[in-house]
Amino acid sequence: MALMEKHAILEKSPTLLLVSSLLVVTVGGIVEIAPLFWLENTIEEVEGVRPYSPLELAGREVYIREGCYVCHSQMIRPMRDEVERYGHYSLAAESMYDHPFQWGSKRTGPDLARVGGRYSDAWHVDHFTDPQSVVPESVMPKYAFLLEADLDGEYIGDLMATHRFVGVPYTDQQIELARADFRAQADPDGDYGDVEDRYPGAPVGNFDGQPELTEMDALIAYMQVLGTMVDFSTFTPEPSR
Ligand code: HEC
Repeated sequence: MALMEKHAILEKSPTLLLVSSLLVVTVGGIVEIAPLFWLENTIEEVEGVRPYSPLELAGREVYIREGCYVCHSQMIRPMRDEVERYGHYSLAAESMYDHPFQWGSKRTGPDLARVGGRYSDAWHVDHFTDPQSVVPESVMPKYAFLLEADLDGEYIGDLMATHRFVGVPYTDQQIELARADFRAQADPDGDYGDVEDRYPGAPVGNFDGQPELTEMDALIAYMQVLGTMVDFSTFTPEPSR
């Protein structure tokens, strides 16, 4: 009973109650937030996750410019319905090189976090050119103009340097060879150079089926790499510390 009586003192004085609740919240906040300042990294590194290749990065720019994130998410939540439909739930490390991240907030269309390899390049060309030709009830807009938008990668090295500035570990060599790698990844003659060495697992090919390098090539290269970097047949989550 004594404790309840002491508590009554608090309850009867608004000022005292306010000050002590502020105190309690402050202590709670410090306990939660302060350790983060001493942690070097809050993202557990996962084998296989690498920075985007120049062409994939250019495709990501098209994705952002066209506002694909308005209708699509790239974040599979660890819930049964999502995992059964889209695959393994997304890991933080899988978007560690995304600046800004593309998690999205609304799914008018399906989640795209693991769309890589799900369809052929030709399917993507048909689908982007005229989504309703593939999925008649689709409300997705047509992006046929991407086939006509030639890309020369003039500024791709600068874009990579900008990403390096915000923490993506591109090497000097990767930035120096950016333009060559950019062209090589979608080389119509199948000469993919060292792209696969510098960007392990990178999808290669003449993505849009045309001799010219276009925004369609870049966007499809980006689609095809999504969710493919981590090998989930061998991945085991680290026990939480
Ligand atoms: C107005 C909303 C909307 C916008 C904007 C939109 N989409 Fe879609 N998207 C959809 C819908 C709805 C579907 C499902 C029907 C279909 O396949 O067309 C879809 C399907 C897809 C699929 C097939 C996914 C799967 O697993 O079957 C891909 C890939 C895709 N969209 C990529 C994109 C890209 C890239 C952009 C931007 C260039 C984009 N979408 C813009 C609504 C949209």
